[in-house]
Amino acid sequence: MRSGESVAPSERELRRRTAWVSGASGGLGGAFVAMLRADGFEVWGTAREVDRLETWSGDRRFHAVRLDLADPAGAEAAFTEAQRAAGGAFDVCIQNAGAGEFIGFANADPAAWERNVGVLLLTTARLSRLALHGFHARRPERGTLVHVSSLAAEFPLPLMSSYNVGKAGLSALSESLMFECRGTGVTVIDFRPGDYRTAFNKTMHVSATLDHDWQRRLWQGLEHNLEHAPEPERAARDLGVALRRGRSGVVRSGAFFQARLAPLLARLVPQRLLRASLAWYFGGR
Ligand SMILES: NC(=O)c1ccc[n+]([C@@H]2O[C@H](COP(=O)([O-])OP(=O)(O)OC[C@H]3O[C@@H](n4cnc5c(N)ncnc54)[C@H](OP(=O)(O)O)[C@@H]3O)[C@@H](O)[C@H]2O)c1
Repeated sequence: MRSGESVAPSERELRRRTAWVSGASGGLGGAFVAMLRADGFEVWGTAREVDRLETWSGDRRFHAVRLDLADPAGAEAAFTEAQRAAGGAFDVCIQNAGAGEFIGFANADPAAWERNVGVLLLTTARLSRLALHGFHARRPERGTLVHVSSLAAEFPLPLMSSYNVGKAGLSALSESLMFECRGTGVTVIDFRPGDYRTAFNKTMHVSATLDHDWQRRLWQGLEHNLEHAPEPERAARDLGVALRRGRSGVVRSGAFFQARLAPLLARLVPQRLLRASLAWYFGGR
């Protein structure tokens, strides 16, 4: 081959499809990786400790990335490096990593509260911006950005204000991007899971002092709901359907009551009645 001679991309290169999944060490992210791998994607999956990604060790089409969203500059560097290795842009970018904090707003340490909003919204937004740069630089421009928000964006969870703010902000960001990306080849999906049986409640920071009976009841209710929730594979199936459909929009996923009936009722009943129903549902006061 002479220098300067162009080389036609191989069939493998033409068919190479790449995806980023943050928070791939288990739960929903783990199920998303399995779904994408089964669909033939090469996946860059993240955890704060890469040892936690050993399920896929030995899989040449899985790349373990260390990512801590509490470190914005480090997170941007990790994403940039992965995106470069993926050829300059991912086909699918799933911003899934996140965690909750269960504590009353007035008692929360302000720095910890702001850090959680930073993890869920601000650093995630930084990575989404980088993903969009990659999508828009392609000819023709294309790519799919998925923000894993939560039904908490529309039905705030009790004693989880930093989480509610982070997820509502992420859904608002998704809506902004759907508008900005109209008419381009870029798809934006605001994926809102209801309760799923994952380690979410085990890894969440819970206030050491749940001072009142109603607070303890709320925590027990939340644990009970997660223990009886669907398996993460269901969320992966719903996301797979949305990816194949290829349209921007909100996708709710979960048990029938949470993901279908509650959003419908919320459109029909007055806000005060809805708030009272939620207090009853969560078993609080
Ligand atoms: N389970 C539910 O009922 C539910 C409902 C609605 C929305 N969601 C959302 O779904 C997403 C996945 O949660 P899950 O239920 O699958 O919980 P999970 O099993 O606890 O998984 C959370 C993932 O996020 C990663 N993560 C947590 N904090 C991080 C940080 N500061 N920086 C980077 N990565 C971090 C964890 O990685 P390492 O700990 O290994 O670093 C883990 O891979 C979250 O955004 C959550 O808010 C969950």
